[in-house]
Amino acid sequence: MIDIHSHILFGLDDGAQTPEDTLSMARQAVSDGIRTIVATPHHKDGTYTNPPERILARCQEVQALVKEQGIDLTILPSMELRVNGSEVEDLKQELILTYNQGQRYILLELPRDHVPRYMESLVFNLQMQGIIPIIPHPERNKEISENINLLYRLVKQGAMAQLTAASVVGKFGKKIQRLSQDMIKHHMVHFIASDAHNTGSRGVILSEAYNELSKRFGADYVDLYCEYAEKVVAGKDCELIPVQKYKKKWFGIF
Ligand SMILES: [Fe+2]
Repeated sequence: MIDIHSHILFGLDDGAQTPEDTLSMARQAVSDGIRTIVATPHHKDGTYTNPPERILARCQEVQALVKEQGIDLTILPSMELRVNGSEVEDLKQELILTYNQGQRYILLELPRDHVPRYMESLVFNLQMQGIIPIIPHPERNKEISENINLLYRLVKQGAMAQLTAASVVGKFGKKIQRLSQDMIKHHMVHFIASDAHNTGSRGVILSEAYNELSKRFGADYVDLYCEYAEKVVAGKDCELIPVQKYKKKWFGIF
């Protein structure tokens, strides 16, 4: 399995704090069946600023450390960039780290409470630069949770989206779990990732969520999501199932 969203690099954000934290997360990942982790430290989120060169250096250091400890895990670089309006300019100036430096995908985080009105045109403009934004945890965005079709519009425009494993298995409650299922059903999401910050409440565990996905939607979905993750780290295009608009079901007599 490949985990495309993780805060495993120590000392860069609110994820791992020490090399020991990183190693514990790496061991947890391997015992869960994960063989590749994309490290995605926060960038420009109002608290953390992590320029590409800092992430690349730490990623190399951590990969060496993990190897030295005999842990069979590949760690690749990327970042979790908070949407801020300067993406296109920053990309031109190489201030954004794309997935595995493939110049094809970025992890682009929305603010927690809303979807900026310029988001649709930003997705379009990024695509003009050859970049596909992956939106992490849309199921935890307040505005999308009230109107799931805001996500539909972004995906229709060319974005992809990633659910957090904990949401899929119900660790954030039934409401978020149901919303995640609706997103899966309507092909609004394409990945499940851990968004791990530690080995406890926000651990490096994917197998549980994939089991849930297989149980509810079939093993084909697991294969598809795994294939998408492989494509992302390889910088290759994904063949997507057309996204569907959510239509409210009305019950009762009129
Ligand atoms: Fe994250």
